[in-house]
Amino acid sequence: MPTIRPYAAGDGDALYDICLRTGADGEDASAVVLDPRLLGSVYVGPYLALEPGLAFVLTDGATVLGYVLGALDTGEFERACELTWWPALRARHARSAVPPGSVDATLIDLIIAPPTTPRSVTSVYPSHLHIDLLPAAQGAGHGRALIDTLRSALAAAGSTGVHLGVSSTNTRAIGFYERMGFVVVTSDPRGATMGARIG
Ligand SMILES: CC(C)(COP(=O)(O)OP(=O)(O)OC[C@H]1O[C@@H](n2cnc3c(N)ncnc32)[C@H](O)[C@@H]1OP(=O)(O)O)[C@@H](O)C(=O)NCCC(=O)NCCS
Repeated sequence: MPTIRPYAAGDGDALYDICLRTGADGEDASAVVLDPRLLGSVYVGPYLALEPGLAFVLTDGATVLGYVLGALDTGEFERACELTWWPALRARHARSAVPPGSVDATLIDLIIAPPTTPRSVTSVYPSHLHIDLLPAAQGAGHGRALIDTLRSALAAAGSTGVHLGVSSTNTRAIGFYERMGFVVVTSDPRGATMGARIG
């Protein structure tokens, strides 16, 4: 039976791989990205570097099957990324090196000019999260357990709410988040920000 434990140094490659294998609206993105570490560099790496105490993994003992990653204060996290995470990636990834319109180009755009979360969201839902499980671990209650684990950690750290971003085409995840008590905070045709209060 898989169990949840805190992230440990040495899990990083497995988490980058899970991010890749769930990175196309919940499906495997391996065939659609040129650089297999780019998704993880945006959606996993900064959390492990800056918020390791809010990173939890699902494991069967031998293999990491999934993760939830959190940031306590989204504004502070975005400022810290600007100082310590994005500069090295900007030095390594040139927009001109990848085909226009490719997924890699979109990710490099995020590295060059990461969007900041509006105060209207962070004032109510200051924290945010990412969650991904490999297909074999989905649909068995582990997603709920990971969300509950992170929510408890965020509550203990004093957070009053947590938000996340989800693509409009990832209907399975949207249904899951609604079941977990998240509501749509903002949306546009590409996706939604959903939030849940804590405490
Ligand atoms: C989305 C994801 C995190 C959900 O985790 P999961 O382990 O499959 O979900 P669980 O089995 O824990 O489901 C928890 C509850 O949500 C419900 N649920 C799950 N998907 C649902 C859906 N699409 N619609 C309605 N309810 C749903 C389950 O029935 C369950 O209800 P219960 O606890 O009351 O019985 C997981 O499937 C996943 O990692 N998908 C691929 C990556 C991804 O899309 N990540 C999100 C990116 S924004």
